Amino acid sequence: PHQWRGVIEEYRDRLPVSADTPVVTLGEGGTPLVAAQWLSEQTNCEVWLKVEGSNPTGSFKDRGMTVAISLAAQAGDKAVVCASTGNTSASAAAYAVRAGLLPLVLIPAGRIAKGKLAQAIVHGAQLVTVDGSFDDCLRIVRELGKHYPVALVNSVNPVRLEGQKTAAFEVCDALGDAPDLHVLPVGNAGNIAAYWKGYLEYEKDKISSKAPQMWGFQAEGAAPIVRGAIVEKPDTAATAIRVGNPASWILAENARDESGGRIEAVSDEQILTAQRDLAAREGVFVEPASAAGVAGLLATKAAGRLDGGQTVVITVTGHGLKDIDTALAHALPHETPVTPADTDAVARVAGLV
Ligand code: F0G
Repeated sequence: PHQWRGVIEEYRDRLPVSADTPVVTLGEGGTPLVAAQWLSEQTNCEVWLKVEGSNPTGSFKDRGMTVAISLAAQAGDKAVVCASTGNTSASAAAYAVRAGLLPLVLIPAGRIAKGKLAQAIVHGAQLVTVDGSFDDCLRIVRELGKHYPVALVNSVNPVRLEGQKTAAFEVCDALGDAPDLHVLPVGNAGNIAAYWKGYLEYEKDKISSKAPQMWGFQAEGAAPIVRGAIVEKPDTAATAIRVGNPASWILAENARDESGGRIEAVSDEQILTAQRDLAAREGVFVEPASAAGVAGLLATKAAGRLDGGQTVVITVTGHGLKDIDTALAHALPHETPVTPADTDAVARVAGLV
């Protein structure tokens, strides 16, 4: 049998694991790099989508979680803890139970997409809903990790970023070199740092000839890095990136500056329009936060600040089914009248006659 073995086995020599590490995997990674025809036409660039919603729990978080949970299991930990806007908790829950560990997840009250909540619940996480923001949850889990026997699996745990950097390897492996630009959403700011680390590794080892400019996009109402100040009450329909004080703030700035890239903001309207266009034109359904990179690339093009002819990879970070409430609320009119079970009637309603 020939199948993708998960990021630890596929990139073992580049990850902080040993022969003794029990590999806890759901086959994460190996996600599609999809040629984006409509986006390429819009931008006069060669645009690719790294579709991370295809990971086992529906987001890129699985790449880091396989490493974090494998190492927690190796260390003999009994419980893991994380703060989350939803995807990290879904991933932590799945990988933890697979390893026989107890997942404890803290989420901010309200604003967690229902699909993600369902994942934490069905995987059997110990769920604590906190009357506060994601940033409050992160502060609390850091303290819990210090005072109680629970391993912290947020991306402040550096092994998470080690796992996530494998996405950059996959992009280079698929394209034969690094792209000119890599575009992605920024929330707690770990992923942009992880990609940058991966690209630098491949460049240093001469597997790729260059590293791309890193372009990150935050939501306007949750854009602390763009504003240069903590946002006390971050707000955006893209709940996954509703973060006011990102843990990897400095790492993200380093990725931006060392790569000659940018971190900018896009409005919720731009995000939701990009989400809709991606689904309707490229056939790729992503959650709102995941469309921030696409929104940002299109906004940059519209402002006349994107050179044509470049190879561009955009990471779309999570699956659209995570948050169908937001998707349906912003979809084009989609009334579906109940029609008699009759071919002529259906043909009429469908506009075929
Ligand atoms: N896209 C999605 C779908 C996310 O869930 C996240 C982060 C990001 C983008 C931003 O990535 O934090 O590395 O800059 N979600 C975290 C969570 C905060 O708790 O699931 P980042």
